[in-house]
Amino acid sequence: MVEDIKKIAEKFGIVLSKEEALKVQKELKRWCKPSIRADGEIIKTRDGSFTLISKEYGEPYHSVYAGAVRECYEKFLLPSGLIDKTKKSSRITIIDIGFGLGYNSVVAIHHLKNINPAIEIKIYGLDKTFPSKLPPMPEPYTDLHNKVWENRNALEREGVLIELIEGDIRNTIGVIKDRADAIFHDPFSPFRNPEMWTIDLLRKITGKLKEDGIWVSYTSALCVRKALRMLGLFVGESTPVGRKRGGTVCSPSKKFELSIHEERKLNLSPYAIPLKDETLNTPPKEILIRYFCEVVKIKDT
Ligand SMILES: C[S@@+](CC[C@H](N)C(=O)[O-])C[C@H]1O[C@@H](n2cnc3c(N)ncnc32)[C@H](O)[C@@H]1O
Repeated sequence: MVEDIKKIAEKFGIVLSKEEALKVQKELKRWCKPSIRADGEIIKTRDGSFTLISKEYGEPYHSVYAGAVRECYEKFLLPSGLIDKTKKSSRITIIDIGFGLGYNSVVAIHHLKNINPAIEIKIYGLDKTFPSKLPPMPEPYTDLHNKVWENRNALEREGVLIELIEGDIRNTIGVIKDRADAIFHDPFSPFRNPEMWTIDLLRKITGKLKEDGIWVSYTSALCVRKALRMLGLFVGESTPVGRKRGGTVCSPSKKFELSIHEERKLNLSPYAIPLKDETLNTPPKEILIRYFCEVVKIKDT
């Protein structure tokens, strides 16, 4: 393992001593262990709604602690600015990254259509693979969720157009030519799904925002906030749901800010450096090892 780490580091022009490679190994063990142990099963979350557990990533599709539906509403829809926009616009566009079970989109459609039944909603749903097992959504979302997966034509008649795009997002993001009012960024967590959070991919993704559009995610990871800041975006924190720190929002023009405490961490922590994937095809494990090599070097200086 230590030899592997040293070889991968060399690929990126980083020379590691054995001691440094051991430190990288320790960081990997500390940050990348599964958050939950279960086998691709459906589980009940705290608000009573169900979610899936991904065996591949060792993580649930939604926060078990906050509740799956509550997470969609409070961590994604509320901070996205869409509720306000829906009152004033005739059409909105959403890019839903890590579409998964479709919960984020379903919750958004339900509430936005309640606010303005005439609103036209276009959604691009991107995912590597769409799940074969789907837990049922609770009322009032059950019917809408079924339509998303079984009869999207029925939704088109109601002014909702959902385009599902399958494949590694690094290869598919370029297909979208539209600009979005909101981007829901909902992959698994940065250290378990690193290719989804690199500065290089985030540049492409946030480049799809309208000038007043908002990118939203549940994560508060410093590597992500730093990347967004380096891309020249205004970065802020959404209201915490079920834990101390909130998620992250950013925009090209909306003047989001972080608290002094969070700003300090972004400036001082050795973890506040971006994940990198210049070629957009680096294996996830290499993205992570490169990152922790850089963290260890910073810690040692
Ligand atoms: C946390 S789940 C998404 C939950 C979803 N938003 C919902 O409401 O049901 C993360 C999703 O990211 C997808 N994903 C992971 N890596 C990806 C990649 N490289 N490209 C596209 N999608 C990816 C997974 O397949 C998974 O469906």
